[in-house]
Amino acid sequence: MSRFAEPQDAAFRALQDSLAFDWRLGPYDVQQSRAHAAMLAAQGIISAAERDQLHAALDQVERELGQGSFPFADGDEDIHMAIERRVTELAGRVGGKLHTARSRNDQVATDVAMFVRAHAGAAVERTATLARTLLDVAEKHLDWPMPGYTHLQRAQAVYLSHHLLAYCWMLIRDRDRFSGVVAATAALPLGAGALAGVNFDTDRELIARELGFAGVAENSIDAVSNRDFVLDYLAAAATCATHLSRLGGEIVLWSSEEFGFCEVADAWASGSSIMPQKKNPDAAELLRAKAPRVAAHLVALHGVLHGLPLTYNKDMQEDKEHLFDAADTIELCLEAADGMLGSIRFSRDNLAAAAADEMLAATDVADLLVRRGMPFREAHGVVGGLVRSAIDQDKALSDLTREELTRHSPLLDEQFFALLQNGAWLETKRSQGGTSLPRVREQLERARAALA
Ligand code: ARG
Repeated sequence: MSRFAEPQDAAFRALQDSLAFDWRLGPYDVQQSRAHAAMLAAQGIISAAERDQLHAALDQVERELGQGSFPFADGDEDIHMAIERRVTELAGRVGGKLHTARSRNDQVATDVAMFVRAHAGAAVERTATLARTLLDVAEKHLDWPMPGYTHLQRAQAVYLSHHLLAYCWMLIRDRDRFSGVVAATAALPLGAGALAGVNFDTDRELIARELGFAGVAENSIDAVSNRDFVLDYLAAAATCATHLSRLGGEIVLWSSEEFGFCEVADAWASGSSIMPQKKNPDAAELLRAKAPRVAAHLVALHGVLHGLPLTYNKDMQEDKEHLFDAADTIELCLEAADGMLGSIRFSRDNLAAAAADEMLAATDVADLLVRRGMPFREAHGVVGGLVRSAIDQDKALSDLTREELTRHSPLLDEQFFALLQNGAWLETKRSQGGTSLPRVREQLERARAALA
């Protein structure tokens, strides 16, 4: 018997069935069911013999899922129903006892929390791996000068190591954000039942320990309604994807003939179907392009959850595809970024030639005047004038004559020319976190410690 006199419409089934994507929760669902059955037996809600029958069937289901031989049936609405149906086929009537003191509402929240915990953990590993690769590449290019940019205009010289370490720190923060996501999955939803709790003397702590949760969710209503950990995961993934996007974007620029700063290995590039000379940095381009997709998943889930009345609503089934695609995307991007960065080659000469542009030292010239007592704002104007006369005469700063210099400011002397010596302005950036070599070495140490 059933509440329903009519079969479900085919289009409704197509709309609501989630098996096509939530099959990925299968392994977590089996683990959870095993722990649940063990708890039911420990509390005398089912017998030990019944537990063993359920466990044997669950073991079989796990094998079938692992081997890809699990017999999905036409009527399977989602992975939870499919597994329970199969357990009942294998174990007989006792299979119907598995869902005692449990609802799909606390069940799915638990599966999703376990999925998030596993994938946040994987992301912790992968962000740390990429950060370590960046650190190694930085160390190999410790004293390679390059221009730093603002507005994509040459601004001040930095070392390539310093620039690469900027990404290393982003990845360290990403790692920490993903660790925070692991922490956000600490409370076990299971045991909340549909929403109000259950009519049996369950032991939720036992299940929590068994499934690796630090504790149990305090409020059954919150437990089945909560998807904060998914939002947290998506937020961490979106930020991380944005970092990879900026990294990818720079590699794309730097790989161009116009910059000529680097070349990705052949394993990370493609050719053109028509232009035989082409070598395109597609991996970097795709890192650049994937970020909005991950951010969109975050925004989409906020859209699903906002204004949603407590407790469970079918809307919440829409958490999964956003979560799964974000996890697949960020894990693949992290792996690709690691491979691409690990094998990239930089051109010392091209970087150095760009960094030798004396205009990069304009701020340093202004600071020379400041050290001689001129207020910075005035010095900014004086050097602006110098730059302008150099540009008007199509000269480098160091080609300006002594008389011209004195005309702009009597405070400008030999020191001006000394300062323009190639590289002199990198080693004066001695402030903490700055680009001088002792500071970059210090930074390498700290990054290494953060990743230890
Ligand atoms: N497939 C459902 C989901 O992903 C499982 C929970 C169903 N619960 C319900 N009350 N219909 O959200």
